[in-house]
Amino acid sequence: MIARRRMVRNYDPDRPVPAPARDRLLRAAQRAPSAGFTQGTEFLVLESPADRETFWAATTPAVHEAPPEPPAPPAALASADQSTAIPAGRWLAGMRRAPLLVVCFSHRQAYADRYGEPDKHEDDIDTRWQVPYWHIDTGFTALMMLLDAVDQGLGACFFGVPTNRVGALRDAFGVPGGYTPVGVVSVGYPAPDHRPASLHRPRRGVADVAHLGHWSRR
Ligand SMILES: Cc1cc2nc3c(=O)[nH]c(=O)nc-3n(C[C@H](O)[C@H](O)[C@H](O)COP(=O)(O)O)c2cc1C
Repeated sequence: MIARRRMVRNYDPDRPVPAPARDRLLRAAQRAPSAGFTQGTEFLVLESPADRETFWAATTPAVHEAPPEPPAPPAALASADQSTAIPAGRWLAGMRRAPLLVVCFSHRQAYADRYGEPDKHEDDIDTRWQVPYWHIDTGFTALMMLLDAVDQGLGACFFGVPTNRVGALRDAFGVPGGYTPVGVVSVGYPAPDHRPASLHRPRRGVADVAHLGHWSRR
């Protein structure tokens, strides 16, 4: 399952994700590890055509501001992964066909509360933690959904919401300020898609990334 996982950026628009499959994905997300078992991640689940349209309208440039194809990627693509470099129109057209979007939100305050409990008693998570685990844990939930999608014969892709679109996303769906949209998992039955430029990069081998016993030894 791990070896078969890949990001899918085009979906069969005529095959919605059945409710039991959606619920299973969300249960898989709940199986993710989290610091202190805080389970601080929350999800905005968008399925109806109207809700999905609202999402895309909030998070991508309006038609009149969209750059002419092909030079620049759409804002949603540009946010985190410019190297993917699929022409803007094609990327967005495929992604808009996803019948299910799960926006994954981290919630710092849940961790502050949890780590204030007697068994933790850690009152300074912002400076004591090398990285904000609330974001990390939210990434884990997304990965659980990406993997469960493979198991269910579904396709999925993780992508970011550009910083300058987060306000519009909050306004459109009533998301409170304490919740940060770490990324979105699009889900649906896979349709043929294009190999992104990023995948022309060779996959790094274990010897490239693993240091055996000492940083100098591979
Ligand atoms: C943090 C993160 C952000 C990403 N952002 C995007 C994105 O905005 N658009 C996109 O098409 N893919 C995005 N991706 C997917 C990567 O391009 C993809 O994982 C990578 O090219 C390897 O391909 P694979 O996952 O299919 O093996 C993102 C992945 C991660 C982990």
